[in-house]
Amino acid sequence: MKVIRVKDAAEGGKKAFEIIRDGIQADAKVLGLATGSTPVTMYNEMVASDLDFSNMTSINLDEYVGLGPDDDQSYHYFMFDHLFNKKPFKEVFVPNGLATDLEAECQRYDGVIAEHPIDIQVLGIGHNGHIGFNEPGTSFEETTHVVKLTQSTIDANKVYFASEDDMPKEALSMGIASIMKSKKILLMAFGEGKADAIKGMIEGPVTTHLPASVLQNHDDVVVIIDEAAASKLS
Ligand code: F6R
Repeated sequence: MKVIRVKDAAEGGKKAFEIIRDGIQADAKVLGLATGSTPVTMYNEMVASDLDFSNMTSINLDEYVGLGPDDDQSYHYFMFDHLFNKKPFKEVFVPNGLATDLEAECQRYDGVIAEHPIDIQVLGIGHNGHIGFNEPGTSFEETTHVVKLTQSTIDANKVYFASEDDMPKEALSMGIASIMKSKKILLMAFGEGKADAIKGMIEGPVTTHLPASVLQNHDDVVVIIDEAAASKLS
């Protein structure tokens, strides 16, 4: 793993943007994208840039079960709000949280990923070390699946909802096997709350207890962390 230390999320977003820009200039056509607070500074840089994404395809990592594109807490809505409304892509894919047959939706999404191999996968990391919504204990062989969110993830994300009861407790997530097939992986983490997960990911054993540790097995991973997220590294 190549680790780039930055001062803060603003500088991290700039660095991440440069990696995306260089990738696109070197012919990357498919971006795997994440939601949440972490990639926002990178999306702001993408929006402010003069880069054209109209030839690009994006595939998002995950979506809450039960939330549709019009729900302002859905990841579909988040992506249009932060990026796609301002920088149109050729094609965008987000799992359908309203699918009546969730298993069929997982299979459909695996087909989307197979048809559009991901050149650069952008990741955040959960306090518990999840990537996508692959919670601790998830097999590294997993493809798109329905996830029961852990209390750690519910605690971290319930702040975006009126109450914990309003937050979906299940999500659809791209699996670790699919994430690992991406040609390049770009993971960002900002803030002290991510310090334990970052230490485990970089210095700990590769274990399903800390899903992001699997990235030690990928040969092209760039990690961008601020001082607080790096604070527990030896
Ligand atoms: C989001 C995702 C999650 C987040 C992680 C960190 O699409 O897949 O793994 O990246 O939960 O969330 P933030 O960035 O809000 O701290």
